[in-house]
Amino acid sequence: MNITKNGYYFIGLLVGLYLWILILYLVGNPGDLTDYSIRLAVLFGFTSLFIAGVITPFMKQIYKMFGTSFLNIHHVFSVIGLILVTVHPLAFAIVTNAPEAFIPKFDSWIVFWNLAGRPALYLIYISVIAVLIRKKISQNIWRILHGLNYVALVFGYFHGVLIGTDFQNLGIMITFTAMFVISMEVLIYRRYQKYIFNQKKKGV
Ligand code: HEM
Ligand code: HEM
Repeated sequence: MNITKNGYYFIGLLVGLYLWILILYLVGNPGDLTDYSIRLAVLFGFTSLFIAGVITPFMKQIYKMFGTSFLNIHHVFSVIGLILVTVHPLAFAIVTNAPEAFIPKFDSWIVFWNLAGRPALYLIYISVIAVLIRKKISQNIWRILHGLNYVALVFGYFHGVLIGTDFQNLGIMITFTAMFVISMEVLIYRRYQKYIFNQKKKGV
């Protein structure tokens, strides 16, 4: 890996983002090890999935900055994110002795959104399975299924806003709202990039 100066700036920016979240967490109500594994894990997990998603329209730039494929960098953050958003409910279910915490609830609109992390978890898993079997299914299908990650970010964000302890901290609320909005903008931008690419291919 041949990291350029811009690559180091970018790494600095990402380290800064994690540190910023850590500081906001610590100045809030950090609690004990249980809270770390439930709350800090998901704050970092959501952030990692955000980074995995946000770099997708910048494949060339990522390659130039790190001298390695976009996919390698995407993997680092997606795998960290995947592990941390799994640790979050696992720790919660173990501590509260509530395996039913993994079952999505559709009792009412508000109950669904309060607990929207539950379906979010499965959407992330489906998106990962789609990637693993992508050579066996059509391109369109795996891409649509992988796109469920964005739905998971929507679910995870509103679930955090509604029941998250740290979301009472304005700094966390602003930071995560910014990450959420940027993710959605990047999704639209990526679709636009693909549209332009297809138009060029058709010779329009
Ligand atoms: C959770 C773990 C994840 C894994 C294991 C993963 C894995 C992958 C892999 C292997 C590819 C490349 C597939 C190929 O081109 O053959 C890919 C592409 C992509 N991933 Fe992920 N990813 C993960 C999470 C995410 C997240 C959270 C987002 C967005 C929020 C995301 C958005 C994308 C996009 C937009 C592409 C490019 C698809 C395209 O070329 O149209 N991924 N991912
Ligand atoms: C079975 C799955 C899940 C369960 C049972 C669950 C449960 C919980 C609980 C109980 C809290 C409140 C913690 C507290 O403030 O003390 C919480 C917060 C949160 N959850 Fe989940 N969750 C799940 C999945 C997810 C997923 C997949 C995401 C992200 C994609 C997510 C994102 C969040 C966020 C951002 C918070 C706020 C954390 C904070 O304020 O520090 N959750 N979750």
